[in-house]
Amino acid sequence: MAGTAPRTASDHAAPHGNDEQAPRPEAASPPLQPGLFDPCSVRQVTLRNRVVVSPMLSYCAEGGHPNDFHLIHYGKLACGGAGLVFVESTKVDPRGCSTPHDLGLWKDDYIEPWRRITRFIKSQGAIPGIQLSHSGRKARRAVPWQGGGPLREWTSVEPGQAWQIIGPSAIAHGAGYSVPHALTQSEIEQCLRDWEHAARRALCAGFEAIEIHGAHGYLIHQFLSPRANLRSDAYGASLAGRMRFAIEVAASVRRSWPADKPLFFRISAVDNAGWTLDDSTVLARELGRAGVDVIDCSSGGMGEESVTNTARPYGYQVGYARHIREQAGVMTMAVGLIAHADQADGIIRAGDADLVALGRELLHNPNWPLDAAHKLGLRKYDHIPKASAYYLEKRAANPAFTPSTWRRGLRQP
Ligand SMILES: Cc1cc2nc3c(=O)[nH]c(=O)nc-3n(C[C@H](O)[C@H](O)[C@H](O)COP(=O)(O)O)c2cc1C
Repeated sequence: MAGTAPRTASDHAAPHGNDEQAPRPEAASPPLQPGLFDPCSVRQVTLRNRVVVSPMLSYCAEGGHPNDFHLIHYGKLACGGAGLVFVESTKVDPRGCSTPHDLGLWKDDYIEPWRRITRFIKSQGAIPGIQLSHSGRKARRAVPWQGGGPLREWTSVEPGQAWQIIGPSAIAHGAGYSVPHALTQSEIEQCLRDWEHAARRALCAGFEAIEIHGAHGYLIHQFLSPRANLRSDAYGASLAGRMRFAIEVAASVRRSWPADKPLFFRISAVDNAGWTLDDSTVLARELGRAGVDVIDCSSGGMGEESVTNTARPYGYQVGYARHIREQAGVMTMAVGLIAHADQADGIIRAGDADLVALGRELLHNPNWPLDAAHKLGLRKYDHIPKASAYYLEKRAANPAFTPSTWRRGLRQP
C-alpha cells in the first residue's frame, strides 16, 4: 500500500527560513503522488488535507472538564486549516492522569461540554479527534514547568478518591516515583472496559477519530516493555504476552467505535529500553487486525529522556513511519520536528507516511496550514471565512509578495 516515490523528501529540501529564497506562489506542478494538501480518507472519514494537530497536553483542565480555553485553543487550530485536530491525551480513568490538570473521559458529565467544541471544529471544516490515554506508573506528576516530577501527596482528580498508581508490575518508573500496584487479571478486564466506555463517550461527544496512546512510557507502553512488564501470566512473559494488553485495548475501543470511523494508535517505535523497530512492526500488523487504521510513529518515554528533546534533526522519526508503512502494510503518520511546508509535503510525496502530525510548530503558528499552502504555491483559502479569503486571495495574486514574518533585504519605496 505504500506508494511509489517519484520524488524524494530531499528533492523538496528548500531553504528553511522565511527569507528571500522562499518559493513564490506560482502555479503548482501537477501532483505525482498525493501531496500535503490532497485529501485523505480513512474509513468513511475524509480529511481535507494531511496536516494533523499532534495531541499536546495543555494542562488547563480542572476535575477533567474541558472549558473555554479548550474551545478557543482547539478552535483556532481548526480555523488555521489542519485536516484533523487531535485533542490532547485524555484519560479513561482518573488514576491515569499525568497531572491534576489533565482532561478526562471517565464519566458521562464530560460529554456535553465537548459537544460544543467538536461542533465548532467541524464547522471550520476540520475533523475533531481525541487521544485516549492512561499514564499507569507515570501518573500523578507536577506540570512540566513545575518540574514535572512525581507528586507524593495528592488527592485524586476525582473528588473523594485516593490516587492509586497502577502498572503491569510493581516496578517504579524511576527514582522518586511510586511503586505501582500490579494489576490483577480482573483489574485488567475493568481497565479494558474503561477504554471501551471512554470511546463510547467520545462518539457521543461528536469526535470523528480516536487515537489510543500506546507510547511515551505510559500504561500500554509499560505492558509492551520488557523493562516495565515482568509478568509471568498471559499479559507478559513473551513478546506476544506483552503485546496482549495493547491489542485488547484496541479491540475494546473498536467495539464501541463505529466501523466507519478511523482509529489511530500512537506507538514509541523504539525506546532504548528493549523495545525495537522489529517489535513495532509485529505490533502494527496485529493492531491492524484488531481494527487500527493508522500507526502514529513516535519514540521514547520509557527512560528518563524527554520525548520533546530538541537536540534532534528535522523529521527524526520519519524513518519509523516509512519502515512500518512498508513492512506492516498499514497507514502511518509521521511526527517529530516537522516544521516546514516543503519538508512535510516531501514526506507525503515520497510515500514515507500518509499523514504528518505537527506539534510545537502549530503552537507557534496555528495558521501554519494556511501559510504552508501558500508557500507550496497553492491558493487554499476555502476553509477560512469569506471576508478573509477574499482579501488574502487578492493579495496572493501579486507574485512579488510573500507572506512572512521575516524577509531579508526588503527596500521600502
Ligand atoms: C506541550 C506538549 C504536550 C504534549 N502532549 C502530548 C500528549 O498529550 N500526547 C502525546 O502523545 N504526545 C504529546 N506530546 C508530544 C507531541 O504530540 C509530539 O509528538 C512532539 O512534540 C514532537 O512533535 P513536534 O516536534 O512537532 O512538536 C506533547 C508535546 C508537547 C510539546
